[in-house]
Amino acid sequence: MSVITTHKDGEVLVIVSNNPPVNALGQAVRAGLQAGIEEALADDSVKAVVIRCDGRTFFAGADITEFGKPPVPPSLPDVINVIEASTKPVVAAIHGTALGGGLEVALGCHYRVAAKTAKLGLPEVNLGILPGAGGTQRLPRVIGVAEALNMIVTGKPIKASRGAENGLVDKLVDDADLEAEAIAFAKSVAGSTDLPRTSERTEKLKEAAADPSVFSNFLEKNGRKIRGYEAPIACIEAVKAAVNLPIEEGLKKERELFMKLVSGTQSAALRHAFFAERAASKIDDIPKDTPLIDIKKVGILGAGTMGGGIAMNFLSAGIPVTILEREEAALERGVGIIRKNYENSAKRGRMTEEQVEKAMSLLTPTLKMDDLADCDLVIEAVFELMSIKKDVFGNLDKVVKKGAILASNTSYLNVDEIAACTSRPEDVVGLHFFSPANIMKLLEIVRGEKTSDTVLATSMALAKKIGKVAVVAGVCHGFIGNRMLAKRQQQGQQMLLEGAKPWDCDRVLTEFGMPMGPFQMADLAGLDIGWDPEKTSSSTVREVLCERGRRGQKTGKGFYDYDEARRGTPSAETEEIINSFIEKSGNTPRQIDDQEILERLLYPMVNEGAKILEEGMAQRASDIDVVWMNGYGWPPYTGGPMFWADTVGLDVILAGLEKHADKFGEEVTISQLLRDKVAKGEKFN
Ligand code: 3HC
Ligand code: NAI
Repeated sequence: MSVITTHKDGEVLVIVSNNPPVNALGQAVRAGLQAGIEEALADDSVKAVVIRCDGRTFFAGADITEFGKPPVPPSLPDVINVIEASTKPVVAAIHGTALGGGLEVALGCHYRVAAKTAKLGLPEVNLGILPGAGGTQRLPRVIGVAEALNMIVTGKPIKASRGAENGLVDKLVDDADLEAEAIAFAKSVAGSTDLPRTSERTEKLKEAAADPSVFSNFLEKNGRKIRGYEAPIACIEAVKAAVNLPIEEGLKKERELFMKLVSGTQSAALRHAFFAERAASKIDDIPKDTPLIDIKKVGILGAGTMGGGIAMNFLSAGIPVTILEREEAALERGVGIIRKNYENSAKRGRMTEEQVEKAMSLLTPTLKMDDLADCDLVIEAVFELMSIKKDVFGNLDKVVKKGAILASNTSYLNVDEIAACTSRPEDVVGLHFFSPANIMKLLEIVRGEKTSDTVLATSMALAKKIGKVAVVAGVCHGFIGNRMLAKRQQQGQQMLLEGAKPWDCDRVLTEFGMPMGPFQMADLAGLDIGWDPEKTSSSTVREVLCERGRRGQKTGKGFYDYDEARRGTPSAETEEIINSFIEKSGNTPRQIDDQEILERLLYPMVNEGAKILEEGMAQRASDIDVVWMNGYGWPPYTGGPMFWADTVGLDVILAGLEKHADKFGEEVTISQLLRDKVAKGEKFN
């Protein structure tokens, strides 16, 4: 069946797209739309047109899979120009998400009728491009420059109700009535020749034309968020063109900027990120129809840093949580922090007071293990010690009902060993959240040797429900993320003893686009994790820092000195400690240049990623990228470590690893998979 069909309702021609799953504007859809308008113009009995979509959404954008391939006409900008130029009124009937090219089609229509639950947006910037079918020129003409700039540069969609206020939506209707209302609307304007063509409108551009401070103000407010990204800057340039140039020239400018971005590395990386995230949600060897467990109640052990944050995910999703602690004081503190976090969200306008109370009402604090008996899922987040975890899982096995999922939030420990303490290892899984757990998007689902398909599939579905991006990892020390991180942190420490400064290592990585470097990260987490004041022996820089009370940000000093606002500056004391270690080792400190720092910190991570792949601990290279972009702030515009390695060239990475082999010693042995890929001229992705 054709993806576009037409039928008549009186004097209205209804053009219907049916291109599941999201009505992406692929070539057949574009051609069909154009043919539909031509059909309407050629038929004297037709006086107006409605464009609508079947399925779950109005057009969700251009077909991203066509990017990077030779274009096949008609192009989307041409189709939209045909729609806008129509001498018969065209009405868009919008439901679901009108995104990117989808909203651009709607902007080319003369009128927009939207269902109340619809959302409208131009998210192209998230793919490293800009709206390339007139969106940057038409949206400001309809809703004004300030709001258009915000939508285009942040990529965040707005609700249809907001669209009804700002002029984007001409009529807001109940979802069930959309088609009928759109047709009625079309009939009410049928025969009209005085059509509101967006590209002819200029009244909402005047303010910004007279006072361009809207652009500088926007940059001032958002500069930090868009640091390193090319697309947001191009978006701003395109909207400026809308204000300063006639429509034809503005569209030309938009096209130029679009073509440049779409053929660039950042866009390729961000498109990779988009598809990688979706691929990560698929577990290759599990049947699609695997039955799921209905998670109606969650139990959490430990109300510390992680337990509290994990609880918030479920509370916010409306799932009741019972949280268990060893003693009253810890329980009260944990619950207090959850409430404070919610109240802070409310203060920032992200939640209403009602929502705060609703979430808190779903939380039951307890000191009794028996209260977890009827939970469908229990997540353990107690201290990172195997003996304690074993004890906890042994007890859970006795108390919690059969068929429930028993999960551990362990960072490093062997999930199979933990599972072996229960009579039901098939129900045990690792659910590794990242700190702060209520905010970080990543969830590593650690698949034990015996974990059942049902437990895995349920974990994946649940991750989606609580808004996490999940990746399946195998059982190995540190799973995917922390295993790779360990290599980077180790090289950082080692380079200090060769003469590099902590702040140089950190600067190289922040210039690369990471939110922080290895030493800033160590200071943030606390240098005393795993440090025992009873057993300390001044044998590492880190130990001496702890001994001298330099335990990280929380003590006001660590590798760096911190002021009250927690801004770090290089510390002379840290430098003196490092120097004394260098002296003791007999090494001659040397100047390590930025390129070597980058290679020593990142190449071993890529190498470890390759080992994780060859051992089957990750399903695919792109999963590793998803872990790093969502759990550790790896800059998405480079696509994650494995995609980045592909762009650097795997032969270059291998040569770099070999060049530094004497410095790496046993810490970094080169992955066979990496060697094989280089030999075959292959990439990871
Ligand atoms: N092109 C091609 N495939 C797309 C697509 C698109 N624009 N949008 C979604 N898909 C695919 C997904 O890859 C996924 O495929 P899979 O099932 O094989 O993994 C499938 O559609 C379903 O997508 P989701 O899993 O994301 O479904 P959700 O219901 O969770 O979300 C959505 C739906 C909100 C529409 C979300 O898919 C989305 O945000 N899509 C991208 C929207 C976008 O970026 N649009 C702009 C495109 S660029 C553009 O329009 C350029 C223009 O200016 C010229
Ligand atoms: P934490 O020390 O902040 O909290 C642990 C809590 O567990 C404490 O409040 C403690 O009183 C409680 N507890 C200990 N034994 C208990 C028991 N038998 N029953 C009930 N409660 C008990 O520790 P944090 O940081 O929350 O870590 C918890 C787990 O999460 C560890 O396994 C850790 O490796 C993992 N993790 C930690 C991350 C982090 O950044 N802090 C990130 C990801 C995982």
